[in-house]
Amino acid sequence: MLRRLWYWMKRHTPQTFKPVILVTGCSSGIGLALAKFLYRMPQYRVVITARRASLETVRGRFQESERFWLRELDVTSQRDRDRLIQEIEEKWGGVNILVNNAGVSYRSVVEHMTADDEFRQMNANYFGPVELIRLVLPTMRRLGRGKIINISSVSGMLAMPTMASYSASKYALEGLSEALWYETKPFGIDVSLIQPGFIRSNSFKNVYYTKLSHPDHWQEGIYGDYYANMSPFIEKLMGLSRTDPFDVARLVIKVIQQENPPLWIPATIDARIFYYLRRWIPRRFLMPLLFAALPKARTWGSQHTKKRTGTFRGAG
Ligand SMILES: NC(=O)c1ccc[n+]([C@@H]2O[C@H](COP(=O)([O-])OP(=O)(O)OC[C@H]3O[C@@H](n4cnc5c(N)ncnc54)[C@H](OP(=O)(O)O)[C@@H]3O)[C@@H](O)[C@H]2O)c1
Repeated sequence: MLRRLWYWMKRHTPQTFKPVILVTGCSSGIGLALAKFLYRMPQYRVVITARRASLETVRGRFQESERFWLRELDVTSQRDRDRLIQEIEEKWGGVNILVNNAGVSYRSVVEHMTADDEFRQMNANYFGPVELIRLVLPTMRRLGRGKIINISSVSGMLAMPTMASYSASKYALEGLSEALWYETKPFGIDVSLIQPGFIRSNSFKNVYYTKLSHPDHWQEGIYGDYYANMSPFIEKLMGLSRTDPFDVARLVIKVIQQENPPLWIPATIDARIFYYLRRWIPRRFLMPLLFAALPKARTWGSQHTKKRTGTFRGAG
């Protein structure tokens, strides 16, 4: 009780220090929603960012000010990252809160990805965010506080067919964040993973396809059934979701303002359900259950399979 009162008083005591927040990927979805909230929060200095192609659209939505900047940042570009962090350090002394939100999602089975596709997926969702973390940590360590908020996904706790590489990128981000939590705790730096599941938004339109996973080729290939069933299924679940990008953005604000936020923060109802299912039901039972719930999964590939029973016992 006393502890809560202390935190309440701390939150409501006027602050002179305005923490610096850096958000990546603010042209749409969660990043844009978060930018809209932060725009109206004068207690923070904010840097919202977008890739060059989206910069003008974002500029049309916000008026820059002394405390609210819009900057170009492709998280996969070392030049962009270095230049921006250097500018923030020179003018504002560094980043206090980093929100790694930017991300892309490939829709493809494993066989249809190429090494280049894999790299692009990992670069945007893992390598880029990790490099940003490395750049902001020294200032946070020096100040003895800071927050790293990584927008992960329910795909970082459970993988789904046709989204293998996206899942791999989020699993990687989750693994790194878990280790980082231990590493930065002694320095007063919090690490949190926001895990949205399905969100009612147009993000599915921003999905990336590979040459072979593109809808133009669905009819021809072995994996046609997979795509033809999974894509509308995901789209439908997104449409049915009660959570929109603003709800997730609100959660990010809560984490920004929370003393000792948790590492894992499921952000939608389905994410909360999966979070507990994964803990309570052994994987060997959970996976067949989920397989049965996927649309027509039992018939996928039936025209092409040479599936055989029996094991590879080999000769005595
Ligand atoms: N929507 C969902 O259902 C859902 C569910 C779970 C997790 N998430 C995660 O939530 C985060 C935000 O997704 P969203 O739903 O808001 O999707 P979104 O509407 O597609 O927004 C993604 C943002 O990331 C930016 N971006 C992509 N690649 C970038 C790069 N290399 N450098 C800088 N910015 C880049 C995009 O900018 P451009 O305009 O330049 O492309 C866009 O602003 C992502 O990390 C995503 O994985 C989303």
